[in-house]
Order: sequence, then structure tokens, then C-alpha cells
Amino acid sequence: MSKSPKQPSRKRPKGTEAAAARTASAIAPPDSEESTVSSPRRRFLGRLWLGLGGLAVVEFLWIAIDFLRPRTPLTASQTDIIVAGPVDAFEPSSVTAFQQGKFYLSRLADGGFLALSRECTHLGCTVPWIEEEGRFVCPCHSSSYDHTGEVLQAPAPRPLDLYPVRIENGIVKVDVGSPLRRKSFDRRQVTRL
Ligand code: FES
Repeated sequence: MSKSPKQPSRKRPKGTEAAAARTASAIAPPDSEESTVSSPRRRFLGRLWLGLGGLAVVEFLWIAIDFLRPRTPLTASQTDIIVAGPVDAFEPSSVTAFQQGKFYLSRLADGGFLALSRECTHLGCTVPWIEEEGRFVCPCHSSSYDHTGEVLQAPAPRPLDLYPVRIENGIVKVDVGSPLRRKSFDRRQVTRL
């Protein structure tokens, strides 16, 4: 077997290597100096961005969890019950207006309570209580009702609607969430102590 002829090694001239080294050293110092100076700054910025990113993720998760969290639904009894006040605050044979619940609390001569809707059963006008006349008189078409809500004068087709009343620990409470229609007044509609 014949050996391949040796390739002649390419040697740089000494002068060229020295020049290259000088060039490299002339370029290197500024770069390494800059990287030495900027390295802590880069680390700081990196940590800052990392922290801000973490905060954003936590905030997003918080909002998402809060949004998905099941809420305790308000029951009708929580939203519709109006506390009228203590029983003794209402004189027998009196009618008290409650703007908030849009009803009248009528206390009968025997001490019983009725909560009457303020809406006329004819076309829905608000019916004022006329103390001097002892009756409700509708300003729209002159229907009138007595203190139990019973019709005294047409065109109202039926008595004023009722709201359920209950007395708890001497406090009168009215459920304005469920008005009751009725054909006539009945003693069983009265709430007593
Ligand atoms: S709306 Fe009351 S009488 Fe017509």
C-alpha cells in the first residue's frame, strides 16, 4: 500500500497571529466589561418580570375562583319579608301605610292584622287610605274598599290583594313576595297573636 503524500501544514506567519491576538484583545475588553456590568441588571429585570408574571397569574386565578364560586342564593323569605314593627306599635282599628312594601297594614278592632296591597284591583292605580272616610278610595275610577280591603264600590272587581302576615316574638312581618288574590273577605285571612 502506498501512503498518501503528507499535506503541507498551513502555518500563519508569526506577524499575522500577533496581529489577530491584538485585534481580539482590543475587542474583548469592552464586551466582557459590559456583560459584567449588565449581568446584575439583567438578573434583576428577569426576577422583576418573573415576579410580575407570578402576580398576574395569582390575580387571574383569584378572579376565576371568585367567579366560579357558588353563591348562596337568597331565598324569597330573605328578600321579601318586611318587618313592620312590634304588635303594640299598631292601634286596633288603624291603617298604616308602608311605602317600602307598597302595602297597608290594617289592624282590626279585635287586634287581628291584614296586609293589603295598595294596587286597585280595577286597573292598578295606587289606592290611598282616606282616614276621615274610613275607607280606601281609588282616584282613577272611584272604586272604594273598607279597612279589610272588601269592595264597597265598583268598578273594582274584587277585594284588595293580601300579603301573608306573621307575628314572631311580638314582631309583625309581612311577606310581600306572594300577594294573594281573593274573592271576598274572610275572617280566616286575619293574622292574630
Ligand atoms: S283603577 Fe281604581 S277604580 Fe279604576
